[in-house]
Amino acid sequence: MTGALSPIDKAKFVAAKRAAEFVEDGMRVGLGTGSTAAWLVRCLGEMVRDDGLKFRGVPTSTRTAELAREVGIEVISLDEARWLDITIDGADEFDADLALIKGGGGALLQEKIVATASDQMVVIADAAKEVEHLGAFPLPVELIPFGWQTTQALIEETLVSMDVMGRNATLRMNGDRPFITDEGNHILDLHLGRIGNARQLAMVLNQVPGVVENGLFIDICDQVVVGFGDGRVEVRDINAGTVTEDRLDFVEDDNLFSDLGD
Ligand code: A5P
Repeated sequence: MTGALSPIDKAKFVAAKRAAEFVEDGMRVGLGTGSTAAWLVRCLGEMVRDDGLKFRGVPTSTRTAELAREVGIEVISLDEARWLDITIDGADEFDADLALIKGGGGALLQEKIVATASDQMVVIADAAKEVEHLGAFPLPVELIPFGWQTTQALIEETLVSMDVMGRNATLRMNGDRPFITDEGNHILDLHLGRIGNARQLAMVLNQVPGVVENGLFIDICDQVVVGFGDGRVEVRDINAGTVTEDRLDFVEDDNLFSDLGD
């Protein structure tokens, strides 16, 4: 089965597999959303089943919740957990300071709440997600549907005084209808090209009425586990200033590698 995986999928898998080792018995764990996080959930499900790992997971989307239950992880809400030991999630871009763009899958609001409510946040990503400057990936902004076109106009006006290269904003669609998030909101994707001051932009966007949250994660991520297509893994810890390297073997396992929907 693993022979069918692309180098990018192998990279995502090894990052997820390595990060799964951070989860210990008794922990409350935030479970991210997206294709890399789906590998993590699969790996953790295998550890629950084969090694008797006992932990409770707080999913960041309905699709992660479904997958977690399917693989045998005990799922609880954030209100039940209150605070988490660790959150492990993917990212669309990360820079050297571990500032992130997230929300490519539309789950940024729950992802940011869950990551912020965690002792540590670990990002799992293939090496292609690393950038010198954030912004090539369109920045998702979650808006309430009421008056969203007015909110878009206000955002575009705000962007004029921001240090960004592009200012084009597009409403995310799902076929011929607006994409709807788990909270019933819309997503505006900002095509900025390059973000000069991500911290300032994150604060300013959240001041616009109608904006619920934006996909910039600043000072939230503690570690990134970077996967490479040849099985190499790098763990970078921003607080300790350390980089450790590892190599993981692909082990064929039909349960783990079949039916990966996300
Ligand atoms: C989901 O809303 C996102 O924040 C994802 O974490 C991000 O898009 C990374 O997704 P992949 O792991 O699928 O690249």
